[in-house]
Amino acid sequence: MRSERVEPASRGLRGRVVVPGDKSVSHRAFLINALAPGSARLTGVLDSEDVGRSRDLACALGCTVERDGAGFVLRVPEGLREPADVVDCGNSGTTIRLGTGVVSGVAGMSVLTGDASLRRRPMLRVVRPLREQGARIEGREGGRLAPLVVHGGGLAHGAHDLDIASAQVKSALLLGSRDCGVRIREPRRSRDHTERFLHAMGAPLTEESDGTLVLGPGRWAPVDVHVPGDVSSAAFWMVAASIVPGSELELVGVGTNPTRTGVIDALRAMGASLEVTPDPGQVEPQGTVVVRSAGLRGTRIDGELALRSLDELPVLAVAAAMAEGETVIADAGELRVKESDRIARVVAGLRAMGGEVEERPDGMVIAGGGFSGASATVDADGDHRLAMAFAVAGLASSGGVRIAHAESVATSYPAFFEVLAGLRT
Ligand code: S3P
Repeated sequence: MRSERVEPASRGLRGRVVVPGDKSVSHRAFLINALAPGSARLTGVLDSEDVGRSRDLACALGCTVERDGAGFVLRVPEGLREPADVVDCGNSGTTIRLGTGVVSGVAGMSVLTGDASLRRRPMLRVVRPLREQGARIEGREGGRLAPLVVHGGGLAHGAHDLDIASAQVKSALLLGSRDCGVRIREPRRSRDHTERFLHAMGAPLTEESDGTLVLGPGRWAPVDVHVPGDVSSAAFWMVAASIVPGSELELVGVGTNPTRTGVIDALRAMGASLEVTPDPGQVEPQGTVVVRSAGLRGTRIDGELALRSLDELPVLAVAAAMAEGETVIADAGELRVKESDRIARVVAGLRAMGGEVEERPDGMVIAGGGFSGASATVDADGDHRLAMAFAVAGLASSGGVRIAHAESVATSYPAFFEVLAGLRT
């Protein structure tokens, strides 16, 4: 176990950060292109443990990946083959869920598993609708938990009215249905990276007036992608610069897909100073974000805004703890089934630092007003976003923080602590 000590940033944070590639888009660059015979050049890809799992899955299915300068070239054969061994998806929910969709369309048997955290996370949300389309999938507890054994091939057209808004579920169904087509209705629109890829790849995908997605059967063409910087990673710097007085950070090449930028809207509602200037993008929009410290006030984050800032809610909770007045986070029950129970862990961490927080089934209420002066120890429970959120809290505290299990930053932002050290003044 690696633990990290983060001292308060008494003189502010300054500098320019090139944020690492977007995790969701990087996974899709490999997994969606793996369904399009030919070759694709991928740049800006996040080089992290999680994305490596999706790259390995594409290779296990018969694709090849070569490094090419700062990018990768993915070559996809005509027809994927069953993997020769069990596929280890590590900590990556995106690999196992999108991957289950991909291998449901591949003739043969695929076995997908992962680390202890992934093997606790719910899989029936993808298994059940894929079974309805004819996939034969087994798993522990009737398919609720990985390892999953998928006997793929021969899926039939499906129509799904989903009860949770999940981009992983939506994407698994789209990727499993390349040859048969599918209709999907979500209760709210989750991140739309997969739809953007499919449009760019010429897939017959349309959207009805009520938001139902309709994919027809057909071939997809490979697409070259430049992956923008991850707004979820940039979010740590947005909050850090907002709450540490005397800070100014320039965040370069950040993805600005509107289904992902809830963190910017939530911070602005709290009074943060964020300027966004668009840059040219490829498949996905991107821009430069300049953040300056500002006094924050409490707000309410729920409904569509909670969904558009889903992975950023832990660090938004840190911003709320430093704000004046109460913040309510609601409609975010999904946080309990992420890499850890992020509601319970954030509440425990903020309380350990002297914050006043009430835990709710679908979120939390944060009193605001800052942290106590004492140094605290918090546990990131192997969850990358918690490790980074607690580090940001430590910067704004007066006593600093020790973070247990901080090695998990390798999942999405391997250089996080080194970048942080370089921004201190
Ligand atoms: C992701 C979707 C989200 C998000 C996860 C990545 C994706 O999960 O929390 O980090 O890449 O599709 P759900 O949409 O399943 O909630």
